[in-house]
Amino acid sequence: MALKSPWRADFPGVLALEAEGQTYLDSAATAQKPQALLDALLGYYASGAANVHRAQHLPGERATRAFEVTRSKAAQWLNALSTDEIIFTRGSTESLNLLAYGLEHLLPVGGQIVISAAEHHANLLPWQQLAKRRGLELVILPLDQSGDVDLHAAMRLIGPHTALLAITQLSNVLGRWQPVAALLAMAKAHGALTVIDGAQGAVHAKPDVQALGCDFYVCSAHKLYGPDGVGLLYGRGEALAHLQPWQFGGEMVLDADYHEARFRPAPLGLEAGTPAVGAVIALGAALAWLSELDHAAVAAHEGALHAELLRGLQARAGIRLLGEPQLALACFHVDGVHNADLAHLLSEQGIAVRAGHHCAMPLMKHLGLGGAIRVSLGLYNDGSDLQRFFTALDNALELLR
Ligand SMILES: Cc1ncc(COP(=O)(O)O)c(C=O)c1O
Repeated sequence: MALKSPWRADFPGVLALEAEGQTYLDSAATAQKPQALLDALLGYYASGAANVHRAQHLPGERATRAFEVTRSKAAQWLNALSTDEIIFTRGSTESLNLLAYGLEHLLPVGGQIVISAAEHHANLLPWQQLAKRRGLELVILPLDQSGDVDLHAAMRLIGPHTALLAITQLSNVLGRWQPVAALLAMAKAHGALTVIDGAQGAVHAKPDVQALGCDFYVCSAHKLYGPDGVGLLYGRGEALAHLQPWQFGGEMVLDADYHEARFRPAPLGLEAGTPAVGAVIALGAALAWLSELDHAAVAAHEGALHAELLRGLQARAGIRLLGEPQLALACFHVDGVHNADLAHLLSEQGIAVRAGHHCAMPLMKHLGLGGAIRVSLGLYNDGSDLQRFFTALDNALELLR
């Protein structure tokens, strides 16, 4: 009996793709959306759009209230102490760029920024560029065979010069929970700032920023069954107080003159310009929908699907997995087969998977690969999706080998 997702019917996009003969296995790139989100988005626009925090009129008050409800829901979702610790951005990429600019003044010249070898470009390039701007050293923590940061090496590399640690919680290529607790403890022992890239992690376990004890945590709504164009940046109250704005304009100002200005504290001081009002309101609906789920049942379903995915890949000759993925996804390479050719043949059979470097080019180079295929799962996937994938994979490999 193929595994069945009890949540699939809530996702019109999954059903529409299925009716078109498409099997969606690319949720690590972006997730499909529940009906509750579509209803909230339509409800907001259909009842009258308005800008937030500025207007005294009824639609403006209504939009502001709904917008701020999402902030409270996001604070609850992340287990932040206060709603003021939640900043809306455009996504994880923007959150990390905001941090790289807004923390620059705190990092001493000659200090070190520490990241891992598994980082997505979004958690590499902002720090790399900051290191160049400011004369800092970028230190890369190596990985072990399974794909985890090597803690022995980390113990050597994190030290008194470490000014900031930025680490992914769950790798988008290797599918491993990184040992963030141990790494944060090392960094904090040296008084360093700590940043967690939760773009993938937030999707597969409810984050608890207080338990993590990080200064900053970022994630993207669109991967979390929410809308495009919205990201969450959590900042621990004390750390957030030192984060400087990197964008200037409307909404974030306390007082402005032609030659001087004073800015609001977080969160509004870090949200210059008109935000994605409708999308933020829709994110509130997605978070409400997510909060209602039986999280143990979701984890069990995703775990069973993932085990089936690994079993199928490991049973086929010539397939090499990248690391030892624990959940959510698997990246693989087939000996003698170019990943783009394989992706093309899979796509021709209606299988939507991702091929290429997965925005982690240095990791791919380190693994000696030009690219890999990634199959990634959402809670709406069924065993039948995997069966279709494996049938298509066998057909493609027969042609290519
Ligand atoms: C681990 C990780 N970090 C950061 C990002 C960037 O997210 P976004 O494109 O939503 O800004 C991604 C997206 O794939 C990711 O997987």
